[in-house]
Amino acid sequence: MENELSRLSSGIVGLDDMIEGGFPMPSVILVAGSAGTGKTTFAQKFLFDGARKGEQGIYFTTLSEPTEWMLRFSSRYEFVIKDYFGREIIYVDLGKELRETRPYEFLSYIDERISEIRPQRIVIDPMTVVGATDSNYRQFLYDMTNRLKNWNTVSVVTGEVEPGLLYPPEIAYSVDGIILLRMEEEGEIRRKYLEVLKMRGTHHVTGRQSMDITASQGIVVLKSQS
Ligand SMILES: Nc1ncnc2c1ncn2[C@@H]1O[C@H](COP(=O)(O)OP(=O)(O)O)[C@@H](O)[C@H]1O
Ligand SMILES: [Mg+2]
Repeated sequence: MENELSRLSSGIVGLDDMIEGGFPMPSVILVAGSAGTGKTTFAQKFLFDGARKGEQGIYFTTLSEPTEWMLRFSSRYEFVIKDYFGREIIYVDLGKELRETRPYEFLSYIDERISEIRPQRIVIDPMTVVGATDSNYRQFLYDMTNRLKNWNTVSVVTGEVEPGLLYPPEIAYSVDGIILLRMEEEGEIRRKYLEVLKMRGTHHVTGRQSMDITASQGIVVLKSQS
């Protein structure tokens, strides 16, 4: 007998309808795309939508951007509510740990932060730089995704790729879901697309869907085109 998976809303307008109501819980979801396709916007909306409903989130940044800068950067979006910072949404800068600790010590550090905060929603942005120095990178990523899922959370991890590539293959191997963000030049215009490539235990819409990035809602998946 098949059990109904419990699900957590993605926070992205138009996406839940494509994935049977939300991300399976627990899960690790890879959001992949080249620079500027909207990965950080996606991750932030995922957290802020949860925060609005009283859900706890952690945003792990691996780029060492000072929090101050992060706040100013993201305030372009109307869904970013400053009062949530430091309460429903905790920012943790992992830049120093990433440089100074070995991959498995780094994992323990992440685990400790999660155990203190007990979030429902976790973001690691970008994931592409985590664990890449480990001698068995695939095994490391597999262990990391399992640890994240032990907390019964949904983690959105972002993967940056060169334009033209779809996703980072090693990360894709161990995650439960893959969402691609793409920008394509079509004549004079640059169009944006979102595609659900895989989603564990879910009958999802296939094929690329047009999307937009708006100041009020962040990423918006537009009505399905055929
Ligand atoms: N207020 C806004 N309204 C509409 N689009 C925006 C706004 N702010 C940023 N963007 C778009 O979002 C994109 C940046 O998205 P971001 O999430 O930082 O991408 P990534 O993390 O994939 O590099 C920019 O390319 C820009 O076009
Ligand atoms: Mg980004």
